[in-house]
Amino acid sequence: MVNMPSKKKTSINQACTLLAQGDLVVMPTETVYGLAADALNGHAVAKIYELKKRPQFNPLIIHVSDYVQAQQWAYFTKVAEILATYFWHTQPSPLTLVLNKKPTNLSSLVTAGLETVAIRVPHHPVALDLLKAYGKPLAAPSANRSLHISPTTTEAVHQSLGPRTPFILDGGPCQVGLESTILDLSGDVPVLLRPGGTPVEMLEEILGHAIHQEVGTTAIKAPGMMKRHYAPQLPLRINCLHAEPGEAFLGFGHNDQPAHLNLSKTGDLKEAAANLFSMLNELDKPGLFKGIAVMPIPLKGLGAALNDRLQRAASSES
Ligand code: TXA
Ligand code: MG
Repeated sequence: MVNMPSKKKTSINQACTLLAQGDLVVMPTETVYGLAADALNGHAVAKIYELKKRPQFNPLIIHVSDYVQAQQWAYFTKVAEILATYFWHTQPSPLTLVLNKKPTNLSSLVTAGLETVAIRVPHHPVALDLLKAYGKPLAAPSANRSLHISPTTTEAVHQSLGPRTPFILDGGPCQVGLESTILDLSGDVPVLLRPGGTPVEMLEEILGHAIHQEVGTTAIKAPGMMKRHYAPQLPLRINCLHAEPGEAFLGFGHNDQPAHLNLSKTGDLKEAAANLFSMLNELDKPGLFKGIAVMPIPLKGLGAALNDRLQRAASSES
């Protein structure tokens, strides 16, 4: 805190005051903007569900400043320790671990009554300043109304939450643009619950073996994995080489038909991930288009998470 420029320090202090009195704060992270509440204060956490209009059964991720803090809230196995220290500190990359919960005063609304807790260290200077200054874990889902697109800019937060948008800590556009990868380490074998900003291949490399992927099954361990979760207002089609008349065309790499926007002209998956939600948001204009057609994206690396999000956005089920 001592070396922080005074304007920044003032806004961090203001955020801490709001959190301490049970109010919500919008916090930037490297993945997407989060709607944060004191994870020990059930009334504050309830405001998240209320503002997002999110189903109550959906548990939240708690955010902490480092691995040492994280150990207060969950039991870390050897494997969990290795992954946490590597992806939270040595080579920071967005990873949420689902672990067996320690008996603590964490609000049970955060975990939706489960015996496990999802925990991560965000890799963003403003989030880390806030977490260090506040000293307690923050529960934070993405800062959008339920079923809207996750926001990667403060404008997108305002657009989704409207006039009830709480105090925002501005951290600029989110660099990763996709939510964290979620790995369940609470059982005997690691299970991937959500593909995200850290490619599963990177986890497998550190673990030294393949990871079981539960994604897309109906046995919902991460209840947030409802099919229709990442939804624009317009109908969305995927794996399209051309758009129909009236449709917005979202490109990837080289394309014959001119695209309205291109996730990455060079076919770079990292660039595409960072652009995904903001570009979908920009094209999601029912007055202008009748739908959105998206070009095929390869399934390797971050492509798995990109395709997962697009499939959900394209699903008409709720
Ligand atoms: O990148 C991110 O992870 C962002 C930023 C803000 O940190 N957060 C985020 O949170 O995406 P949210 O609430 O949209 O997604 C949390 C996911 C949900 O799918 C939820 O079901 C799952 O984590 N989850 C939370 N606790 C869990 C638990 N104990 N067991 C299984 N899944 C859990
Ligand atoms: Mg979300």
